[in-house]
Amino acid sequence: MTERLDRSDIAKAAALLREGGLVAFPTETVYGLGADATNGQAVARVYEAKGRPSFNPLIIHVPDLESAERYGVFDATARALAQAFWPGALTLVVPVQPKAGLSELVTAGLETVAIRVPDFDLARALLQEVDRPIAAPSANPSGAVSPTAADHVLDGLAGRIDAVLDGGSCSVGVESTIVGGDPLTLLRPGGIPREAIEACIGAPLLTHVPETTISAPGQLASHYAPNAALRLNVENPDPGETLLGFDHVEAEWNLSPAGDLIEAAANLFAMLRAMDAAGVEKIAVSPIPDHGLGLAINDRLKRAAVPRDET
Ligand code: TXA
Ligand code: MG
Repeated sequence: MTERLDRSDIAKAAALLREGGLVAFPTETVYGLGADATNGQAVARVYEAKGRPSFNPLIIHVPDLESAERYGVFDATARALAQAFWPGALTLVVPVQPKAGLSELVTAGLETVAIRVPDFDLARALLQEVDRPIAAPSANPSGAVSPTAADHVLDGLAGRIDAVLDGGSCSVGVESTIVGGDPLTLLRPGGIPREAIEACIGAPLLTHVPETTISAPGQLASHYAPNAALRLNVENPDPGETLLGFDHVEAEWNLSPAGDLIEAAANLFAMLRAMDAAGVEKIAVSPIPDHGLGLAINDRLKRAAVPRDET
């Protein structure tokens, strides 16, 4: 059952989020599907509810710049942009604060995090009350259009999420503009015009080159890729390979010994990173079922398994 909540239920919506629940809420751009960004399982459930076949890093939502600085590192330019456009439809991609406690599923294992402060009183009141960063992609099933009213959210996600906080309709109606990198680059056009951002920083924004045409590894990469070589669907690892297990296999690293895809998704990036840190050079991955969150997990692993000079 998905509950419809209103502004008198903010404490309830906040409690649901703190318990790891999924709560859709209005922003000035579109309704977001919110989850506690410090809770990997809650974030994994966002992907499951949306039926999304791949993992993208997600935007975290906070009530003000002061909270944003708990999770991201702001240089002078980022701070100037935040002061000029927040609250508002601008998302800033900044280096993640060490020990910020964000789930690696939010950042897709990257060293950066996308942050914004929505310009919607109900959203900010909710974020104040939760007092945790809230990851929120648009609150629609994967492939459907973004919702700009609570009814649209329920049309797509009723029964798949805990609640929708009804705040009426969204005034902007398209997603936020995303900028990041040095030199500052327009990563996604959106609610704040490029010209307004360029006027604020006094310089042109670079234009994002899609990942597939970039040859240098790491450049504006939208996902963490492990250093280790990966082989997928392995029942019996070869000598020299280290098994990344799933379900009931004997392995030092296991995405989910219980065979739970939500747990596996929540562990994915952190385990790849831990294996890199441990100096593992060849990873063999157990078969992972190709349904539900398994689709997104396998998509991510397939990309990571492509030799680096082919990406
Ligand atoms: O208007 C919006 O921004 C809506 C409302 C709900 O706030 N939210 C939204 O969130 O569109 P989301 O999570 O779907 O946006 C994710 C996009 C990714 O596709 C990626 O392009 C970019 O944000 N992104 C997130 N983290 C990033 C990072 N560390 N580096 C580069 N891009 C990042
Ligand atoms: Mg969307």
